[in-house]
This record gives sequence, C-alpha cells and structure tokens, in this order.
Amino acid sequence: MIYYPSDDIIANANVKEYENTYQESIADIQKFWAKQAESLEWFKKWDKVLDDSNHPYYKWFINGKINIIHNAIDRHLTTEKRNKLAYIWEGEPGDIRYFSYYELNKEVSSFGNILKAMGVRKGDIVTIYMPQIPELIFAMLACAKIGAAHSVVYAGFSSTALADRIADAESKLLITADGGYRRGKVVDLKGIADEAMQKSPTIERCIVVQRTGHDINMEAERDFWYHDLKALPIADGPCKTEVMDSEDMLFILYTSGTTGRPKGVKHTHGGYALYTSFVHKTVFDIKDTDRWWCLADPGWITGHSFIVYAPLINGTTTILYEGAPNYPYPNRVWKMVEKYGVNILYTSPTAIRGLMRFGDSWVNRHDLSTLRLLGTVGEPINPAAWEWYYRCVGKERCPIMDTWWQTETGGFMISPYPITPLKPGSATKPLFGIEADVVDEKGNPVPPGEEGILVIKKPWPGMARTIYKDDERYKREYWSAYEKQKWYRAGDSARKDEDGYFWIIARIDDVIKVSGYRLGTAEVESALVSHPAVAEAAVIALPHDVKGNAIHAYCILTEGANPSPALEKEIKEHVRHEMGPIAVPEQIEFVTTLPKTRSGKIMRRVLKAKALGQDPGDLSTIET
Ligand code: WT7
Repeated sequence: MIYYPSDDIIANANVKEYENTYQESIADIQKFWAKQAESLEWFKKWDKVLDDSNHPYYKWFINGKINIIHNAIDRHLTTEKRNKLAYIWEGEPGDIRYFSYYELNKEVSSFGNILKAMGVRKGDIVTIYMPQIPELIFAMLACAKIGAAHSVVYAGFSSTALADRIADAESKLLITADGGYRRGKVVDLKGIADEAMQKSPTIERCIVVQRTGHDINMEAERDFWYHDLKALPIADGPCKTEVMDSEDMLFILYTSGTTGRPKGVKHTHGGYALYTSFVHKTVFDIKDTDRWWCLADPGWITGHSFIVYAPLINGTTTILYEGAPNYPYPNRVWKMVEKYGVNILYTSPTAIRGLMRFGDSWVNRHDLSTLRLLGTVGEPINPAAWEWYYRCVGKERCPIMDTWWQTETGGFMISPYPITPLKPGSATKPLFGIEADVVDEKGNPVPPGEEGILVIKKPWPGMARTIYKDDERYKREYWSAYEKQKWYRAGDSARKDEDGYFWIIARIDDVIKVSGYRLGTAEVESALVSHPAVAEAAVIALPHDVKGNAIHAYCILTEGANPSPALEKEIKEHVRHEMGPIAVPEQIEFVTTLPKTRSGKIMRRVLKAKALGQDPGDLSTIET
C-alpha cells in the first residue's frame, strides 16, 4: 500500500520536486552545499567548501568563521522573531515556562557570563547532566556561545557512566540539577553526580540548578547554586558570541559502538549548523507559524539537533516536555498537542507503540486538528504502529516522515519529504546531497529486494569529524570496511526495493537498539561481569512488543555462586547501578557454557537463533 500526500500538502511544501534536485545535488555536492550555506550568517565566508585531502577526516567550509549561536539566537534579535516564542516548556507536574528569542538570549547570555566567571575557556569541554528543563538548553547554548564545547550525558545514565564520560572529556566543570521529575517521582541527579564526581578527579566545580527543591548535599568550594550565581553582578550584561572557525568543536556526544567504551562523537559549528537546519526545514516543512514538538530528550542527538540547534536556527517555536509521555494518564501527549496547537510531532516507534497500547479513546478525547506532519526516528517502525500513528493520530491527513540517521550523521539522511509517496516501514529515499546505497561486503550493489550493507558514498556537512581523542577508532569503525571506495559504513543492514526505496533492517554490528536507545553488547557484558558472581556474560537482543528489542543475558557464574531468582535480581540491580535503567536485561539466563569460535569470540548469533527456535546456521567455527 502506498500513501500519497494531499494536494494541500504538496501545494504548500518547502520541497516541491525530488528527482531532478536530487540528481543535481549529488552531481556536485560542493556546489549544492555552498548554495545552501548562504542561508546562514557567517562572520567570514569560507575559502573552500570541502577539504577531502585527508580521507576520512573531511573538513567543511574551510576558513569560514561562524558561531552556531549567532545563527540560532543573535541574528533573530533584530527581526520580527525577537518576540516570537523559542520554547514552550511544560514540567511533568504541569508547571509551564515560556521563552521568546529575546528572553532566550538573556538566559543564555547570563549563563555564558557565569561559565566564564567560573573559568571556562574556549575549547574546554563542559559536562552537562540535567533533567529536561530549560536550563539544560541554556547551558548547552551558553557553552557554544563562549566557544566551549558541551558533552551532555543523558540523565538516565548511572554515576559510573557519567564518571567515564567526564574522565574522557577531562571536564573541569559539571552542570547538573538537584533532581528532575519522572512519573511523579524525584530522580536524585545530584546524588548520582556526587558519586560520579568522586570518581572523576578532573572536576573542580559544579553548578547546580534547583528544580525539585528536595534536600541535597552541597559541597563547599565545589558546588554552587545556579540561582545564587545568577543573582551576582557577574551574570549581568551582554555576553560576546565568540568567533569560531567552521571546524571548531561544538560538542561531543557519547554513543555506543561495537567494542569497548562509548565513543565521543565530535560535531562542529559550521557544517552541523548548516546540515541540521537544512534537513529540519525541508523534511519537516518548517513554516514561520509552526509549533514543533520533538518528543526526545535533549541529551541524545535527536534533542541536540532537533530540539536545540535546528529549530532555533530556523526560528521555530519548540515544545519541550520534562516527563514521561503517559504520565499521569495515557493522554498526556495528545492533551499537550491540543493545548499548544502543535503542528508537527516527531517521536519514536517505541513511544508510539507504548501509547498505542492504551487504545484510540485516549487520543480521540482531543482535538488534534492542528497536526500537519508526523515523524519517527530511532529504529525501524513496524507497519502496525505506522498505520495507527497515521490513522488514529494523524487522521489520515498527516504524512509520516520516517527519518533514518545516527548520532554520527548529525541530521536526517534517508527520509521522505512531505511530497514523497510513503510505504509504511520504509524511510524512503536519500535526502538531497546524500548518496546512499545497499551493497555486499565487497561493495557490489545487491539486487533490489535483497539484504545488504548500508553505505553513504559521499561526505556531507553534518558528518561527525572524528571520535574524540581517537582518530584511529573513527577510521576503523566507519571507514575501514570500504577503504578503497571511501564509503561510510553506517552499521545497519538494509534493502532497496524496485522503486529505490530503502528499508532499514537492523544493526549488523554488536549494537542493540532497546526502545530506540543505542547500547553496545560489550558495555552491557562488561557491566554484568563486574558483578562478583558473574564470570562470563553474553547479551543478545530479542524482539519485544513495545521496546522493539529487549536485552537477554546469558551468564556463567563464578565458582561457589548459585543460580537463583534473588541473584538474578541482584545482578539486574548491579547493571542498573553501573549503566542505568535502559541497560537492565529483561531476563538473565544462567548457563555453564557459551558458544564460542575457536579464537574465543562469543557467537551471539547462535544464542539468538536458539532463543528464537531457529536454525543457528553454520557452526563450523564453533569450539567444541
Ligand atoms: C541507529 C542510530 C536518535 C537519532 C537517531 C538514533 C537506528 C535510527 C531509524 C529509522 C530504522 C533507525 C539505526 C541507526 N535508526 N533511525 N528511521 N529506521 N532504523 O541515533 O542512537 O545514533 O542510533 O538507529 O540502527 O544506525 P543513534
């Protein structure tokens, strides 16, 4: 079944034609991106669009001078956008705060002044560990404004995960809050941050935003209340937006990879500003009057790109919500869509499936007639969830933009535009400037309908520049598989149908997507074996109705430890403490052996086939 956009959608779309523009865009990517880059304000124009002389370390807009904040905030202040709402924020308990672009600038400027007074300098990396409150965004923007980089650590991560990330970034300053609300409960972020700071000696100071007002520990000389700092004269007055080079670091964001520790994906001021704002405006057809709601956490790339930077650059009004989408009732999201007159809603398949469970009546209580477009991201969307989203939420009027992309790509890569005919479950086609394909291991194209490896054949401005402090790993993980061709290997399998539509299948490396969150099997396994009773562990992903995938763990116990439900519970708690709630296995099975290759690698595919009652395939390399 193919779903066609209405005449109305087509008539008003920002992108009116695909095929010719697409061909033109990839025929000369430099020309294409140079033209798009005119939409940004540069302090000094670039000399050259792309420097590809040092593959795979590409550089964009060489010698261009820019600051993403100038484009996201400063330039709007002299236009009619000045008094337009930048953010409408709703806390989980129902408190509301509004910020115009003018007010946003005031907030970001005083946060920037405070950061400078605390000793933050251009090039430093500030770690941010915050609930979804406006100050999280102000903190990020303030870093960028003064030329520092941010490393936001999602507030669901544990103290160990936070400490590891602080250590890798060598942050001297941590910004956190006394807590946040989730499902009516206070999450004690400061307690977790305290533990992390004990383990990470680089931290000298910590700024604490008051959100919940519950009692927390404040260490003299180290911890400072944000509201106290804001009341000081140091916070007053304008704050200079630093002149940055296009290629200067804007942020690092840690994500899971195939092996070992999470990697700090690095993005830059110039290319990232252009790429995210361009895809946001074109894919989601952003209009000046729109209210845009991206239901993600600013702590992930979706939030960085599409709650913070792209919507601000496009001068959009963005909704930000602190809490759980089904709290206190399953109509929270629909109620907010009606209340704020949301025009475009962007969320994940797991959230859609989670809300679908409660049935249509929760949705139908609300007037959702302001919605014009819908979006999804994070994992393949199953056709049943797609149909429900389309029918029950969008009332068969709103095209669904199924956007395929990654932390490393900065913004959407394969996605429909509103004019694209849709096939439920397909992210459709590569966006302008993006040359994607499905190939075999040698790089030969696979025939239509057959599974292969997803590659991107040309660089794009929003691409990650490297893994922080690990250029080699960047090359190895993404570029070594197709070194000769100079293609980017995304780590997903996919097929392309006879119409050239892409269907993403799954990760082909040891990365698991649980509720759209990305986890490395290696990280979860190392958290498991750090429990004294666990000698060896293997984890696999098995299908789950709401989460998409759920983690199943196999553990070999140490001498003297005995399998029991109590031990299973204890190990799960241990993983929660080591990594955070998203990494906790659904089930732990105690075993005495694990299938391994002769070289000692755990054969997860054998475990998975067995668990699913399928044929484990070629076992010739298994150790017996
Ligand atoms: C991986 C990247 C939150 C921003 C994107 C997630 C999977 C993402 C889709 C989609 C099928 C998707 C891929 C990709 N993925 N979007 N529309 N259809 N799969 O960023 O955490 O870096 O994860 O998410 O497997 O490689 P991320």
